[in-house]
Amino acid sequence: MRAATTPLLWLSALLPLACATTITDIQGPAFRSPLEGQTVQNVTGIVTAKSPTVSGFFIQGAPSNDARVSHGLFVFSTSSKVLDAFAVGDEVALAGKVQDFRSASDPTFLEATELASPANVTVLSHNNSVAPRVLDGALSPPTRRFSALDAGPDGFLSFPNNVSQIDVVNATLQPAQFAIDFWASLEGQLVTVPKPMAIGFQNSFGEFFVRGAWPADNINSRGGLTLALGPDGKPDGGPESVIIGEPLDGSNNPNVSVGMTFNDITGVVFYQFGFYYVMPFTAPTIKTTPNPNVPITTLTSVHDGCTVTLGDYNVDNMAPNSTTLPQAAGDIAKHLQSPDIMFMQEIQDNSGPTDDGTVAADVTLRTLAASIAAQGGIAYNFTEVVSVNDQDGGEPGGNIRPAYLFNPRKVALVPGIPVGGPLDGVAPVLKGGKLSLNFNPGRIDPNNSAWDFSRKPIVAAWETTSGARFFTINLHNAAKVSGGSTTEGDARPPLNGAVEQRIAQIKVLATFIEGLLKLDPHAPLIIAGDFNEFVQTRTVFAPFAGLVSEVDALANIPVLERYTYVFDNLQEQLDHMFVSPAVAARRVEVEHVHVNSWAPNVNTRTSDHDPSVARVRVC
Ligand SMILES: *[C@@H]1O[C@H](CO)[C@@H](O)[C@H](O)[C@H]1NC(C)=O
Ligand SMILES: *[C@@H]1O[C@H](CO)[C@@H](O)[C@H](O)[C@H]1NC(C)=O
Ligand SMILES: *[C@@H]1O[C@H](CO)[C@@H](O)[C@H](O)[C@H]1NC(C)=O
Ligand SMILES: *[C@@H]1O[C@H](CO)[C@@H](O)[C@H](O)[C@H]1NC(C)=O
Ligand SMILES: *[C@@H]1O[C@H](CO)[C@@H](O)[C@H](O)[C@H]1NC(C)=O
Ligand SMILES: *[C@@H]1O[C@H](CO)[C@@H](O)[C@H](O)[C@H]1NC(C)=O
Ligand SMILES: *[C@@H]1O[C@H](CO)[C@@H](O)[C@H](O)[C@H]1NC(C)=O
Ligand SMILES: *[C@@H]1O[C@H](CO)[C@@H](O)[C@H](O)[C@H]1NC(C)=O
Ligand SMILES: *[C@@H]1O[C@H](CO)[C@@H](O)[C@H](O)[C@H]1NC(C)=O
Repeated sequence: MRAATTPLLWLSALLPLACATTITDIQGPAFRSPLEGQTVQNVTGIVTAKSPTVSGFFIQGAPSNDARVSHGLFVFSTSSKVLDAFAVGDEVALAGKVQDFRSASDPTFLEATELASPANVTVLSHNNSVAPRVLDGALSPPTRRFSALDAGPDGFLSFPNNVSQIDVVNATLQPAQFAIDFWASLEGQLVTVPKPMAIGFQNSFGEFFVRGAWPADNINSRGGLTLALGPDGKPDGGPESVIIGEPLDGSNNPNVSVGMTFNDITGVVFYQFGFYYVMPFTAPTIKTTPNPNVPITTLTSVHDGCTVTLGDYNVDNMAPNSTTLPQAAGDIAKHLQSPDIMFMQEIQDNSGPTDDGTVAADVTLRTLAASIAAQGGIAYNFTEVVSVNDQDGGEPGGNIRPAYLFNPRKVALVPGIPVGGPLDGVAPVLKGGKLSLNFNPGRIDPNNSAWDFSRKPIVAAWETTSGARFFTINLHNAAKVSGGSTTEGDARPPLNGAVEQRIAQIKVLATFIEGLLKLDPHAPLIIAGDFNEFVQTRTVFAPFAGLVSEVDALANIPVLERYTYVFDNLQEQLDHMFVSPAVAARRVEVEHVHVNSWAPNVNTRTSDHDPSVARVRVC
């Protein structure tokens, strides 16, 4: 057999490229095509799909026995003269220019191999069928890592970012090891995602992430994938998932929620907007919908003068007239059972996003407190530090801030201390041998550049009804929104937007905490809020190591149930609560209340963050 095939191979090697090029010749075993920039003739394949959704069509040829080399190809064309000349199922031969195309909208996206300017399209036969490759366990995405280039102790979350770029390195693919390589090896091919389950909400284009009935790590009780450390001790970003794009037939994807299941999805593998997609032929049909009921917290308030319940909730740009304000108030009254102190983030000033110089948020906070009371919650008082106009980032004009609601029957601000102004720096002080603050509440180091166009954390000193004193820090660190790149993008490790600023912010916080605990190592201190970062990005949290402890770990929350946010393919924890050694030494309880991650509809939920409740002992 071998002797018979050798002369044929020898013969084909002598044929000039201009005669016939296969799809596998174009794809090659690496990220970039070996034929990049060349015009190729007589490429043959069966048309598997064509659609204005992708501005072109897909052809599939004979497979290679090299698993790295795809036998599918996207052909870019918006010409009806070209597209009307053949039908799905036709075998065609065509010429065109090979290019590795990066959408100009973002230089951090990968390049995708495609054929452009198709010409001389001839139909060779009709009505051919191509069987989709079913992504079952035998052929399914790797479960741990996106790319070989994500070197560093924190894997894809390692810092510094963008140390190398996939398209520059242009390695040959390792589809069994790395998800980006896996999908690149299937580029342009017809696939079926068996028994898909949504693991995120749809975006504004109706696109949503799923995992199929294939092996997966870090599945939480809702069915989604939690960002957690893998068995190798590195953060696992859930590479065993894929985004379902806009249907090729122009139908609309359904609204989805985490845990919703669908009938099998068949479509083509296509790279766009920083991810490998499966572009479905038609809108997936829903099979099952998860239970929308979210358990209310069991961590109710206790009247013993030592136990304090603490809620933490980023309420997503809340103004006095926000439609979500009564919903957030209802969450606090019912699902959170009116914690003794609420650490609120994203409280807007009294005029909301109207940029009119308003900097106080007392109307917002009073409206929220009244709505909580009206829905059966307790009658909260509140405290805040007003802002300097337009200096803290967030929605323009909104002046979002961290602020506290508190139950005056359970706790009081330590009296006789002035409330800080926006530029006053709070400091721990000893007064009559007792730890106190110079401002209550007050902002930490407000002029430090770490807080430029970001929220300044506010510190408060409290006393329980029995006179036990404790301290809190409520914070909202810089958001990841700008300057980030996708987990399936070119930059490795991916760019983590504003990570340098968050590193600086944690350092400033740690310096303050160290100063406070130096004056009183036994001080009960609770630090909570929206850190906009995962503890698995260990570089960012390094200054906290050995200083304060995260309540999830102290309370032994199962690692896969530690999440407060849904983003892309992951359920992840951006909101954290840390406590000082005096609090950590006593019993610590915490629950994440998934009112938003488990919402049946992303458009009608209260906020993008889940609230949490903790119960700690301050004496
Ligand atoms: C094009 O390719 C097909 C199939 O490989 C072959 O039959 C045909 O002769 C080729 N035509 C030219 C002009 O090379
Ligand atoms: C990428 O790698 C392939 C396979 O090794 C090679 O043929 C091609 O020329 C490379 N392209 C670039 C731009 O380096
Ligand atoms: C199309 O075919 C014609 C005639 O064979 C040839 O001259 C031309 O170069 C081909 N076009 C492309 C883009 O290959
Ligand atoms: C393709 O097959 C269908 C039946 O499956 C038939 O109706 C149609 O005529 C065929 N088309 C061509 C071009 O052979
Ligand atoms: C990533 O690094 C490359 C190479 O240093 C550089 O050209 C590119 O601008 C960087 N991308 C971003 C978004 O910083
Ligand atoms: C998705 O939900 C929104 C808001 O509830 C609704 O307007 C829209 O029609 C829904 N879309 C589909 C496809 O059901
Ligand atoms: C809230 O009031 C502002 C003006 O102060 C207005 O622009 C905005 O549309 C209102 N929002 C709602 C939800 O009514
Ligand atoms: C709310 O708390 C502040 C600060 O402790 C206090 O000055 C004010 O009197 C309280 N308001 C009510 C209505 O109890
Ligand atoms: C911050 O800077 C302002 C002047 O811009 C100054 O008045 C204020 O005292 C400074 N605050 C601290 C804590 O240094």
